[in-house]
Amino acid sequence: MSGMPLVAWCPAKVNLSLRVVGRREDGYHELETRFQAIDLWDRIEARADERLTLACEDPAVPCGPENLVLRAASAMRDLAPRRALGAALRLTKRIPVQGGLGGGSSDAAGALLLCARLWGLEPDAEVVQGLARELGADVPFFLFGGTADGTGRGDRIRTAEYLGDLPILLGIPPFGLSTREVFAAFAPRLTPRGGNVSVRASSGAKSRGDNDFSFMVNDLESVAFSIRPELGAFRDALLEAGALGALLCGSGSSVFGLFAEGTDLAPMAARLGERFARFRIVATRAVARGAYLADPAEGDAG
Ligand code: C5P
Repeated sequence: MSGMPLVAWCPAKVNLSLRVVGRREDGYHELETRFQAIDLWDRIEARADERLTLACEDPAVPCGPENLVLRAASAMRDLAPRRALGAALRLTKRIPVQGGLGGGSSDAAGALLLCARLWGLEPDAEVVQGLARELGADVPFFLFGGTADGTGRGDRIRTAEYLGDLPILLGIPPFGLSTREVFAAFAPRLTPRGGNVSVRASSGAKSRGDNDFSFMVNDLESVAFSIRPELGAFRDALLEAGALGALLCGSGSSVFGLFAEGTDLAPMAARLGERFARFRIVATRAVARGAYLADPAEGDAG
């Protein structure tokens, strides 16, 4: 191993809306969701090596073959005519695990880009998207980033008009929620496809302010808030603090509030931090990018 490593930056996401419109034969749920990338990043570094290995300083992150970064690297390697390619990958986690922020999926998208570059492969964008889709329902979004709509399992992506760098306040509780379990508990209650009608009490008026953010609905909140009522209390506190909209992130466990341009989040972060002492409060914003490769000398992502 020698020389400068290659670096991928991998952003977190929130779902500005998430409607569950059906159940599929493959065990997944049919979704209509709007993703938004946010300014909170994992970093992956890669150097050419004889073997394919992953290291991560966070002991909570398993580095075995089940890790999505290694699965993405293997999938990319399978495209190569000569399969004896290796890489020493090093993952630096900042996006919390099981927070509904898509960290593992974003890392997988970053690893696809990183390994393609490292090994000099130039697969078509559709091929990369196909690999992403096989790795997980949220992975394709991170190849695009910004603001985008997902249908199917959430893996059929159409880019949307960028929301702008709006401020976002995240509440990250000290526990995670399993995506699989939240979806399983939701099963009996489905939103009619394409329906923006509020079909359940929890889908109702949760937005405020001059702009119309009433599209911000997450069908999985009813399940997550019944498992962990403090998440609903945190969502309500964000709305009381003036959020344009506030929702559970994906299947949880994090909760976010979207604020008007120029809002100073610091006083709210301090107040929420006092009231919800167990939560980590992160002031961030929307970003227009997805996972991307950077010059390692460039410093932080953004
Ligand atoms: O694709 P991913 O591995 O991230 O999904 C984790 C689990 O979440 C799936 O195994 C499934 O149980 C559930 N899920 C779902 N419908 C989706 C996405 C995820 O039921 N559209």
